[in-house]
Amino acid sequence: MTTATSRLDKFLCDLGIATRREAREMIRRGRVAVDGVTVKEPDKHVEVQTARVTLDGEALVWKKNHYYMMNKPAGVLSATEDARQKTVLDLLPEQLRGLDLFCVGRLDCDTTGLLLLTDDGEFAHRVISPKFAVEKMYDASVEGVPDEADVEAFARGLELRDGTKCRPAKLEITGQSRCFVTVTEGKYHQVKRMLASRGKSVTALKRLSIGALKLPEDLPEGSVRELTEEDLCRVFMVR
Ligand code: URA
Repeated sequence: MTTATSRLDKFLCDLGIATRREAREMIRRGRVAVDGVTVKEPDKHVEVQTARVTLDGEALVWKKNHYYMMNKPAGVLSATEDARQKTVLDLLPEQLRGLDLFCVGRLDCDTTGLLLLTDDGEFAHRVISPKFAVEKMYDASVEGVPDEADVEAFARGLELRDGTKCRPAKLEITGQSRCFVTVTEGKYHQVKRMLASRGKSVTALKRLSIGALKLPEDLPEGSVRELTEEDLCRVFMVR
């Protein structure tokens, strides 16, 4: 078996627990041990999959990839960089900025709610691709009153105003001008265009879930949380 090696300070950064500067400081202060021996040199190389690295005695397990959820606020782009506008990556805590995270699909600038961030392209593809039919559920406020005819039209599969055909989707009426929309694909402005095709323009949109993974109620807007193994499984489960 060939094992990859990493500098010890980079090993700590790649876990998303410290910036490079903080990692060096932790190591120099003697807080980090490799295979039971305190190491004070940040440039010491360790075998990432086999070395037993501890911080203050707690084991650190190396990760190949990283998975986070964000409660996206309105007014930021779901892009990795933009010359003029703030992106979701600008909201990340400093220790996560070196991780090469990108957004799993896009939410419009004014859309809020659950956004996944990862450095795992294959995972992102499985979440986004219509082939895997992962359900994305949105809470939409609209102008107009959604009715049973809209529910049926969504269930049959809508044709958008420009002729684009959509897969069958679910519309649940939750209030006078409020509904949940669940789709398994991610066309440009999809939910807004679907509702517009029924004469209901969207005034607010929030993503509530991806698969069976729900936006936690206690995650403040603009904050991120690492996905657990269970969260990762939920993404590919049916709600
Ligand atoms: N559909 C939209 O119209 N906008 C989003 O941000 C997400 C889905």
